[in-house]
Amino acid sequence: MASESGRERLIFALDMADDVEDILGWVRLLSDHVGMFKIGKEAFTCHGPSLVAKVRDAGGRIFLDLKYHDIPATVARASEAAVGLGVSMFNVHALGGVRMMKDTADAVTKRAEALAVARPVVLAVTVLTSLDGGDLADMGFDRSPGDLAVRLAGLAKKAGLDGVVASAHEVAPLRQSLGDGFIIVTPGIRSAASVHGDDQKRVQTAKDAVRSGADYVVVGRPIRTAGNPVEAARAITEEITEGLRLRRAGNDGGRKALP
Ligand code: C5P
Repeated sequence: MASESGRERLIFALDMADDVEDILGWVRLLSDHVGMFKIGKEAFTCHGPSLVAKVRDAGGRIFLDLKYHDIPATVARASEAAVGLGVSMFNVHALGGVRMMKDTADAVTKRAEALAVARPVVLAVTVLTSLDGGDLADMGFDRSPGDLAVRLAGLAKKAGLDGVVASAHEVAPLRQSLGDGFIIVTPGIRSAASVHGDDQKRVQTAKDAVRSGADYVVVGRPIRTAGNPVEAARAITEEITEGLRLRRAGNDGGRKALP
C-alpha cells in the first residue's frame, strides 16, 4: 500500500477525558488509519492504566505521554511500569538530568528483556513550547529556548534515550545537531488544507515536518474536529508519505536515514 509507511508515523492524540467508550470509539474508528494513539495526562488521570490495556485490546499501539520528571529511582521505576503496560513509546523530561535519563534507559532495557517484549521507544521532552526566552531567563537559564532544546536533546542522546519531542520549527536544527538515527516526534501539525492560502501562520504541515527531519507526527484536533476524521487521517498520512519520499530522495539534503 502506497501510504503504509506514512500511516505508521501518524500518532493520534486521544486528548479527551470523556467516557472510556467515547475514547475507544476513536480507537476503533482510526486504528486502521494511524500508527499509534497518544494517551496523555488528562485521559490517564481520569481512567488509569486500564485505559492503556483497553486501547491495546482495541488494536492500538500506544505513546504514553506522561512526561516523567522526578528523582532517577522514581522515574526508572515508573518507566519499568510503563514497559509492563505494553506501551510502544513514552517520555520523560530531559530537565530531570542525565542520571535520571540514563537510569531510565537502563531500567527499560532490562525490564523489556525480562518480560520478553519489545523495548519501548523512550523520548525526552526538552523545553516546553509554552515557555519563551523571558520565562527561561526568569528561571535562571541564559539560553534561548532553541539552544536549550538542542543542548538537552544532546544530553538525552548521550544518556541512551531514543529521541525527543520537538515542535516543527525545532526539527531542522535538532536533526542537524543530532544526526541520523535519533527519533524526532513533532506535534503542532496542521493539515495542508488549513494552511493553504494562509502563509502567515506558524504552523507546519506533516509533509514539511517529515521532510525536514521529523520521524513521527502527533495530530489531535485536525483529525478530531474534521467533518470526516478518517478522511483527515488519510490525507495527513499521504502528506507524511510524500514528506518521506522527498527526504529519502535527498531533496532536503538527505540528512536522515529513517530508523
Ligand atoms: O490538537 P493538536 O493537534 O494541537 O494536538 C497536539 C498534541 O500534541 C496535544 O496532545 C498536545 O498536548 C501535544 N503537544 C503540542 N505542542 C507541544 C507539545 C505537545 O501540541 N509543544
